[in-house]
Amino acid sequence: MLQGKKILLIVSGGIAAYKCPDLVRSLRKRGADVRCILTRGGAEFVTPLALGAVSEDKVYEDLFSLTDEAEMGHIRLSREADVVLVAPATANLLAKMASGIADDLASTALLATDKPVLCAPAMNVQMWENPATRSNIEVLSKRGIGFIGPEEGDMACGEWGLGRMSEPEQITAALEGFFRRGLPLDGTRALVTSGPTHEAIDPVRYLANRSSGKQGHAIAAALARLGSATTLVSGPTGQPDPAGVDVVHVESAVQMLDACTNALPVDVAVLAAAVSDWRPEHAEDGKIKKAPGATPPGLALVENPDILATLSAPGNLRPRLVIGFAAETDDILENAKAKRTRKGCDWIVANDVSPETGTFAGDANTVHLITQNGIEDWPRQSKTDVARRLADRVAETLAVTA
Ligand code: C5P
Repeated sequence: MLQGKKILLIVSGGIAAYKCPDLVRSLRKRGADVRCILTRGGAEFVTPLALGAVSEDKVYEDLFSLTDEAEMGHIRLSREADVVLVAPATANLLAKMASGIADDLASTALLATDKPVLCAPAMNVQMWENPATRSNIEVLSKRGIGFIGPEEGDMACGEWGLGRMSEPEQITAALEGFFRRGLPLDGTRALVTSGPTHEAIDPVRYLANRSSGKQGHAIAAALARLGSATTLVSGPTGQPDPAGVDVVHVESAVQMLDACTNALPVDVAVLAAAVSDWRPEHAEDGKIKKAPGATPPGLALVENPDILATLSAPGNLRPRLVIGFAAETDDILENAKAKRTRKGCDWIVANDVSPETGTFAGDANTVHLITQNGIEDWPRQSKTDVARRLADRVAETLAVTA
């Protein structure tokens, strides 16, 4: 989850700089804003044009550029970020950082910053193991600078060993971990289902329902924002994938169960999808033809697996907290209470989806939270607020049961 995080990426002169456009794209895909400083050495391996194109921002190169200083001085550049990421961090730049040398824009920004600094070193194995580098790393670690990698593997120079820059996805994951630190759900994993399912009748027709996926998607986003590593298993919806969430797209209930099982183990499962209770017994391979004058075809249905009941069943992989939804049109509370017992889940979020409430397609929801301790009536509020409040409750509960 890097939504809205400002990252100042310093690219120094190692062959691994060729991975930086991918790194910028990976960080931005997670919602981060990335601004790049490119050292003279870095510019030998990756062009400012490439970094500028993927970051959609100006790339800063020269400490003594009058226009750069007028537009954005090196102090502001280093302070406006939430974190400074040095990738690749060469042995030379690490040495300059350790001794406080500020002879170009990158090293000056590093000396001037008041923000956390993370380095992804990249160098030949001998350089990495050289006592000079070892002692620089020690000095920098003591000053609180974080390190991502390096990894072991083949090097551009043909040697094998420790010194390869971590892959863009690993660096992105490390940054996510960095920003999760201290959040209430840091260290937990969450699974959320959302949306309707589509149960195929033939290749063009299916059974579905009116679920929009708004509530489930908002819950996944809220759990991720509190620091939980969140997987959202989504049926077909028009909702964009929430930032910072791993989304698995499925169509049918059987696929949804499969994706949920693959996501285990998790600490909390919130099953908000409106899963079709039945599916056609046979999905025809070809489109069913309408023959003139013929009677309409019958539709034999079979029961779908109950994902909530399956995940709630006792066992090693049962999440610590399983939360189901009860979309009801009559006797909401009675039905929801019975459902909690029948399905074996810990909590039920009950809501009235009678057409006059506009809940299915709308942005607001009136819910009742049914736990082992009783019923809480929550006021009518936006689905985003319902999601936030539920995520807060999850965080409190997991903290107690940890
Ligand atoms: O039985 P009913 O569909 O009313 O139960 C609703 C709850 O059960 C929701 O949390 C829904 O996501 C879940 N469910 C499920 N698998 C099904 C049917 C419902 O996980 N096949």
